[in-house]
Amino acid sequence: MAVFLLDKPLFLHILTQLRDIKTDQIMFRKGMVRLGRLIGYEIANHLDFDIVKVVTPLGVEAKGVVIKDLDNIMIVNVLRAATPLVEGLLKAFPAAKQGVVAASRREMESSSPPTEMEVEITYMKIPKISKNDIAIIADPMIATASTMMRILGMVSQLQPKRIIIASVIASEYGITKIRNKYPDVDIFTVSIDPEINNRGYIVPGLGDAGDRSFG
Ligand code: PRP
Repeated sequence: MAVFLLDKPLFLHILTQLRDIKTDQIMFRKGMVRLGRLIGYEIANHLDFDIVKVVTPLGVEAKGVVIKDLDNIMIVNVLRAATPLVEGLLKAFPAAKQGVVAASRREMESSSPPTEMEVEITYMKIPKISKNDIAIIADPMIATASTMMRILGMVSQLQPKRIIIASVIASEYGITKIRNKYPDVDIFTVSIDPEINNRGYIVPGLGDAGDRSFG
């Protein structure tokens, strides 16, 4: 598994706005959409490509690149926090199929940071995919990775060609957990934050991404 840390200034500029408590709902959601688009382009830059030749209107051959897998993408939208992220990803992959999983953690205050949280999945619809398809699982936050592990369990059974996670902030703990069980999965994330607090929130994080986007 490779972890792609997207820490160029434009990513970090948008992430800083998302982290800021003063950023309101509209700007928060817009920031997520922008990051989704940028993360999508980064993912596209790491897909297989062929070298081809085309003929220009001048009747001259030019060498070029075709990323065939741009048309073989299936994005899983982990409700509800991933919705604006997926809106951005779809700008990069307009032909993508889309699956939806409604997952929510049972949140409670513990005396120490949780390593596992109960996740309730109330709805799931994933389109049919082929062995040539690439599954992108979008969830802006990976804390204990309890949610992501459940979804990886379902998506890996479909045996896509490749599984990619599109995230904004992942905890160190969550990444290690995913890496141990799913060594072939790639993770694209803008930040790796060091801590999880007693309520299961990533620290410093950005709060509850679903609440900040949708109230
Ligand atoms: C958040 C987030 C992830 C999950 C991450 O969703 O969007 O899905 O928690 O935590 P984990 O790595 O410990 O599983 P939440 O359950 O709060 O639902 P929401 O998107 O509706 O707010």
